[in-house]
Amino acid sequence: MSLTESLVRRVRDSSRLVASVAEFYLHGAVLHPWGSRYWAWRYQKNDPWSYASSPYERIKYERTMAVLPKAPTPDGIHEQALEVGCSEGVFTDMLARSGRVKKVVGVDVAAAAIDRARERCAGLSNIELLHGDVRGVPLSAPFSLVLCAETLSHMGSWANLRSMADTLVERLSVGGSLVLVDSYPKARFLHRPFRTHRKLSLIETQVYEDPFRPYMISVLSRRP
Ligand SMILES: C[S@@+](CC[C@H](N)C(=O)[O-])C[C@H]1O[C@@H](n2cnc3c(N)ncnc32)[C@H](O)[C@@H]1O
Repeated sequence: MSLTESLVRRVRDSSRLVASVAEFYLHGAVLHPWGSRYWAWRYQKNDPWSYASSPYERIKYERTMAVLPKAPTPDGIHEQALEVGCSEGVFTDMLARSGRVKKVVGVDVAAAAIDRARERCAGLSNIELLHGDVRGVPLSAPFSLVLCAETLSHMGSWANLRSMADTLVERLSVGGSLVLVDSYPKARFLHRPFRTHRKLSLIETQVYEDPFRPYMISVLSRRP
């Protein structure tokens, strides 16, 4: 990449970052007072983000699956994984069938999403689906794998992002892995409270330059 190209890219990413951080706070200010009514409205129709049918989402799920670290056990299989903001269970189903985990616990704050996830995953006995804010739902911790995809952008404030980071750290076993997936460059902001958390170390971060919507996957590990 030439110097000019690199400069153009930096300017483009910085202006997109500023716009997406503004959008993050606006989302919080406008929609958070609506609470559960916002999510009921969002899930009026089935699969509002086309998770089950979009080739873009399919590739993102496959890439997420490809970077999942193994469990720190001889067979590398996770005893149980937590999926935060599991929506209608498309990735939950994929993960539960992958052979990478023995059990998946999916949590989502939207009641309609959890109802549909229960329908989708009805045939799988290694999935537990819980309705509620992950920061308040009682969970059988610890998890050696925690996933949080496309959910942090709905936190609406820096304080909420930090409390999410603290909650997910508490849910992770020492040496366990946390995988975050969010649109890029917004993810540079969204993943910051995790990257700088004293109980987390960044293992790898990768930006996928999809022409439709770039995204970033960060993999972190829980320190003692
Ligand atoms: C855009 S969807 C992402 C779905 C899924 N992770 C995926 O990538 O296929 C975000 C989901 O996060 C859920 N959510 C937002 N805040 C949450 C919270 N504090 N606890 C649990 N779920 C939450 C929403 O209800 C929504 O279903």
